[in-house]
Amino acid sequence: MTGPSTRRAVRGDGAALAGLATQLGYPSSADALDARLDRVLEREDHAVFVAETDAGEIIGWIHVFLALRMESPLFAELGGLVVAAAHRRRGAGRVLVERAADWACRQGVRTLRVRSRTAREEARVFYERLGFTETKRQRVLDRRLIDDA
Ligand SMILES: CC(C)(COP(=O)(O)OP(=O)(O)OC[C@H]1O[C@@H](n2cnc3c(N)ncnc32)[C@H](O)[C@@H]1OP(=O)(O)O)[C@@H](O)C(=O)NCCC(=O)NCCS
Repeated sequence: MTGPSTRRAVRGDGAALAGLATQLGYPSSADALDARLDRVLEREDHAVFVAETDAGEIIGWIHVFLALRMESPLFAELGGLVVAAAHRRRGAGRVLVERAADWACRQGVRTLRVRSRTAREEARVFYERLGFTETKRQRVLDRRLIDDA
């Protein structure tokens, strides 16, 4: 068997992406992922790539986008990355990050950033293996805009 190949995600990949997002800890429906993917596919400053087995099974995906901030030069950021539990430690994560990094380089940015929960110790080791270094720790705060009650 050769290593996983990668390709751009296309319309209709939502169901496979949803199953993997659920493994990442974000329970998601195929419809929701299809709708989000449709929005991403309309934009040139976002990209989603999938990793596939030789048989065409999607075993991982990565989302990368250009982050525009008033206070910083344009940089690229990973929005999400997951590899199916049964396919980990075989290079799929590395291949996906390199594909995203290649996309980011072609956009002319010099930095690829990922925000990773401090609890994800395995992800920290993974990213360090791929050349990322920790530059800061942050607090994330949300404010609800609609009262569901
Ligand atoms: C993190 C994740 C994407 C890694 O994917 P993967 O396909 O298993 O990673 P790879 O096989 O490409 O590994 C790349 C390198 O990282 C190392 N690595 C990967 N997972 C590791 C782990 N759990 N512990 C230690 N090292 C690890 C590998 O040994 C490899 O190093 P090497 O090539 O120098 O030997 C995958 O474990 C995953 O989906 N985890 C759950 C979701 C998650 O944490 N996503 C990131 C959120 S920010």
